[in-house]
Amino acid sequence: MKLETERLILRPWEEKDRDPFAAIVGNPHVMRFYTHPRSREEADAWFDRMVADLETGVTRLAAELKTDGSLLGLVGLASIDFEIPTNPKTEIGWVLGEAYWGKGYAPEAARACLDHAFTVLNLPEVVAFTTRTNLPSQRVMEKIGMVRDAGADFDHPKLPIGHPVRPHVLYRVINPRS
Ligand SMILES: CC(C)(COP(=O)(O)OP(=O)(O)OC[C@H]1O[C@@H](n2cnc3c(N)ncnc32)[C@H](O)[C@@H]1OP(=O)(O)O)[C@@H](O)C(=O)NCCC(=O)NCCS
Repeated sequence: MKLETERLILRPWEEKDRDPFAAIVGNPHVMRFYTHPRSREEADAWFDRMVADLETGVTRLAAELKTDGSLLGLVGLASIDFEIPTNPKTEIGWVLGEAYWGKGYAPEAARACLDHAFTVLNLPEVVAFTTRTNLPSQRVMEKIGMVRDAGADFDHPKLPIGHPVRPHVLYRVINPRS
């Protein structure tokens, strides 16, 4: 599966992405809204999960810059494998290297993924969630037409109780074709 936007290619992960991906998610500033920057071992495990998900079609993709082929980071869908109150099934997410922030790349890539989700996969709805203080990510959600469902805020069950990043906000968008 490959998607194309004006400035980006969204494509399956390749082995050459492993090192730059580890550098992105190992960066403390990039990961400041997560519990911790990922060790090389954790980054490799994350990378392997994304590669395995490629088979399902509901997957994070490698976002690559058309001009020089550099890896920006990950953008794409994922199946939700834990309980959150309104029981949504599919989420969209993004993590880009710091050098690429502020240029509208995440919303550009995410719009293509949403279009794919609604027109090819025919998903009824996609949600996105992030920790309450992650305003840049919430801006991306707003830019791509997602709307916050304040009643669906939740404490992320996979994060430690009492950790500052545990409280999450949830945004949703319904398939306009449904
Ligand atoms: C969230 C993220 C993907 C946004 O990507 P992006 O391509 O920069 O998105 P945009 O260019 O549309 O910018 C979105 C917002 O990010 C913020 N932003 C932009 N440049 C920034 C910078 N250099 N430093 C901090 N925040 C910045 C602004 O609030 C911006 O909103 P605005 O356009 O209304 O000013 C990116 O910041 C990122 O990868 N962050 C770290 C990982 C992360 O938190 N992922 C989400 C986990 S749920």
